[in-house]
Amino acid sequence: MNSRLVRIALACLAALVLAAGIAAYQVRSERQSQTASRFDMIGGPFELVDQDGKTVTRDSFAGRFVLMSFGFTFCPDVCPTELSQMAATMDLLGDEAERLQPVFVTVDPERDTPEAIGQYVRQFHPRFIGLTGTPEQIATAAGAYKVYYSKVEQDGGYYTMDHSTFLYLLGPDGTTVDIFPYGTDPEDLAARIREHMSA
Ligand code: NI
Repeated sequence: MNSRLVRIALACLAALVLAAGIAAYQVRSERQSQTASRFDMIGGPFELVDQDGKTVTRDSFAGRFVLMSFGFTFCPDVCPTELSQMAATMDLLGDEAERLQPVFVTVDPERDTPEAIGQYVRQFHPRFIGLTGTPEQIATAAGAYKVYYSKVEQDGGYYTMDHSTFLYLLGPDGTTVDIFPYGTDPEDLAARIREHMSA
């Protein structure tokens, strides 16, 4: 079977699993009329390394909202768009942006050293934090957020990464309070984040 088809199938499967998880949990939480986050099956503790080489965990962001995406600095087009939209959202939030931490987690720790990811994210917004880690640390973080990623070998010894592209909003206690699909308009992102901040 064509490997491109296999990768597309895997990416679709990962998206379906995530969507099914969200749908199932929404039904369950309505039945039980829980006050807990609808998304608390998605997300979890992680330990990563920031652009200054310091260890960062989910608890490091306690008290702040976190807008988090996963990708890699060599990404030709999807990640730059997503990071630009996160930066635009920060600008739209004005003073409220102080309560929001934008975070970019690499799925390519082989190339994305702390220095490389730091230089990359600062091109988009001065408040960005870039996170990398060992392959095991990245796998744990990506697994917690149901992020699909896969190395794709290319000609000449190069490689690229396939990866899923959701944006995650974590509340001040670190739980996942919202998930946005790739391409969500920054105006909509800012409005939804404001709702969560004032809830
Ligand atoms: Ni990307």
